[in-house]
Amino acid sequence: MARIRRAALADAAAMAAVHVASWESTYTGVLPASYLAERTVAVRYAFWLDRLVEDDPAICIFVACGEDGEVCGFASGGNGELYSLYLLEEAQGRGLGRGLVEAVLAELHGAERVIVWVLGVNPARGFYEHMGGRLVAEKQTMMGGELFTEVAYDLGSR
Ligand SMILES: CC(C)(COP(=O)(O)OP(=O)(O)OC[C@H]1O[C@@H](n2cnc3c(N)ncnc32)[C@H](O)[C@@H]1OP(=O)(O)O)[C@@H](O)C(=O)NCCC(=O)NCCS
Repeated sequence: MARIRRAALADAAAMAAVHVASWESTYTGVLPASYLAERTVAVRYAFWLDRLVEDDPAICIFVACGEDGEVCGFASGGNGELYSLYLLEEAQGRGLGRGLVEAVLAELHGAERVIVWVLGVNPARGFYEHMGGRLVAEKQTMMGGELFTEVAYDLGSR
């Protein structure tokens, strides 16, 4: 059975692999190829290992595991923000995204405001809206030398 649990140090490599694969399936043809290419498994591994070693009590990190026990997604959050939420393409549409968001929101103890930034063209916007998110902000961000619109949803106090 698929399940959501807290991430452990030993998950850093699997999280990095999921991060890169999910970025590729989500952002290829959307974000500049050079920007994607720079975010390698090694870069993501170093990032997640640092976060897991730091073990900052203000930040929570959860992984979703498939029937085989392998990590197929993750989410992180803290300080009134859902920082990241990524699943392998084949693990999407099975309730794991909802499970990960609910795990992070529960950890934030029903914070009044929990912001998530998402690329304006990302279909995940529909997911956040379906989860009760309220559109609260919009900004322009440079990524790989190109300007993109990002929008923020508030998932708090739903
Ligand atoms: C966005 C994402 C995390 C959603 O997770 P998921 O596991 O596919 O979604 P779930 O199966 O938990 O869906 C929960 C509910 O949201 C709905 N939903 C899922 N994706 C949706 C979408 N794009 N638009 C509208 N509704 C959506 C589902 O139908 C489901 O509804 P129900 O519970 O009422 O039946 C996942 O698709 C993903 O990893 N996408 C690629 C990475 C990404 O874009 N991450 C966000 C970066 S900000």
